[in-house]
Amino acid sequence: MTKHDLSRRQILALVAGLLAASPLAAAEPVAITVVKDPDCSCCEAWIDVLRADGFAVTVRVIDYDALQALKVQSGIPAPMRSCHTARVEGYVIEGHVPPADIRRLLAERPAALGLAVPGMPLGAPGMGPEDQREAYDVHLITPDGQTRVFAHYDAA
Ligand code: CU
Ligand code: CU
Repeated sequence: MTKHDLSRRQILALVAGLLAASPLAAAEPVAITVVKDPDCSCCEAWIDVLRADGFAVTVRVIDYDALQALKVQSGIPAPMRSCHTARVEGYVIEGHVPPADIRRLLAERPAALGLAVPGMPLGAPGMGPEDQREAYDVHLITPDGQTRVFAHYDAA
């Protein structure tokens, strides 16, 4: 073994050690379950956005009435409802919530039911081109069913 080989091996070992210690290398993809009805195509578009962002998505398709019952049972206030209902690490995610806001929720871990983007605003993730975005808010739903604005997106 030459001196050169040895130093190269040492460098490789060092790099491997750094990678193993880095939180990026250790991070598992965040698991999220999305419940949708069979006819929703914008739900599929939002699921694609989540997957592209690195989430490990499980999709559950149930009929429309069962989905509405799930929203009631999950405690999502009627004015906050949208198409799909998702669950991530104990939080409910209702509608076309941007992945960055889900990650912020998981980082901050507020005492909350979860996040909602009510309705289906044009230009929200999975809802068509961002350059045609209408202004919308991401709402935090508190455990008592109150809401406050978690994030605001201006019109494009
Ligand atoms: Cu939708
Ligand atoms: Cu949807």
